[in-house]
Amino acid sequence: MSLQQIAVIGAGTMGNGIAHVFAQSGFKVNLVDVNAGQLEKALQTIGKNLDRQVSKGTLTEGQKSIALANITTHTDMAVGVQNAQLVVEAATENTDLKLKIFRQLDEAAPAGCILATNTSSISITKIAAVTKRADKVIGMHFMNPVPVMKLVEIINGYATDKSVTDTIVALSTQLGKVPCVVNDYPGFIANRILMPMINEAIYSLYEGVAGVESIDTVMKLGMAHPMGPLQLADFIGLDVCLSILHVLHDGFGNPKYAPCPLLTNMVTAGYLGAKSGEGFYKYTPGSKEAVVSRRFA
Ligand code: CAA
Repeated sequence: MSLQQIAVIGAGTMGNGIAHVFAQSGFKVNLVDVNAGQLEKALQTIGKNLDRQVSKGTLTEGQKSIALANITTHTDMAVGVQNAQLVVEAATENTDLKLKIFRQLDEAAPAGCILATNTSSISITKIAAVTKRADKVIGMHFMNPVPVMKLVEIINGYATDKSVTDTIVALSTQLGKVPCVVNDYPGFIANRILMPMINEAIYSLYEGVAGVESIDTVMKLGMAHPMGPLQLADFIGLDVCLSILHVLHDGFGNPKYAPCPLLTNMVTAGYLGAKSGEGFYKYTPGSKEAVVSRRFA
């Protein structure tokens, strides 16, 4: 199946990155968000990230203009998906919201259209079950920052048709990504392995085994991770990490996934990491520098 017209639902960090990579690979993209201001911001971010590629010499000015021209924005989802062959939903990670969006997509998108979700942990089978096309629902989990990270974790729901999986695998390769197909169990693979590591790093801090910088340095220099687990947790969002740990804990019923009480406290207090200005580190707007939060110094 050849896909040309893509709709991306949600113009936040993941949505704008997904629109960026599709547009850069020559696909026509309808970027949809209920908030017109968010769409404007997304276009600016995509422009800035394409500029970065131009200044590195990996993209020409002409290719940048073509990529930007491939993106059209919409606040009306029904209009944005009416001619789509593939929808990639990248709305906020909230189960009720995603179920509502998929009910609407099922009504509004053409019958043959594949409905993909970028969810990091919500069951694909559960999302598919609210549609009349469970065979055409699949997980297409991009990593942040989307234009940089090579992986697309492709998640088969219980009823996903093999031809749909094959189409999404081929498409991911066309985007210059490396697809990995996994089955639909809590946390899939990426977060089933990543989140316990992050949780263990937080437990190590909570129990006083080492400080923020030591924990991150051990993992950066000892295991060649680009970011230490605490910095990565801040980058992902501590609320997102907590919510994924709840999915693992509830889904498996195994106490090994219980979120560290320190993480729960930080989220309750609104210390969500980079996006709120402070988590394990403190961030200054417009600066790449992060210093350890004075709570852990
Ligand atoms: N768009 C386009 N390019 C970007 C970018 C963006 N948003 N952000 C960074 N880049 C590019 C830079 O231009 C640079 O390119 P070159 O290598 O060609 O020079 C490269 O990425 C590195 O950027 P920087 O030099 O600015 O910064 P850095 O070296 O500190 O790298 C990073 C930044 C790529 C984010 C790196 O720290 C990293 O890989 N961190 C780990 C990221 C990670 O683990 N992501 C997965 C999170 S989990 C997830 O997303 C899924 C989930 O379900 C929770």
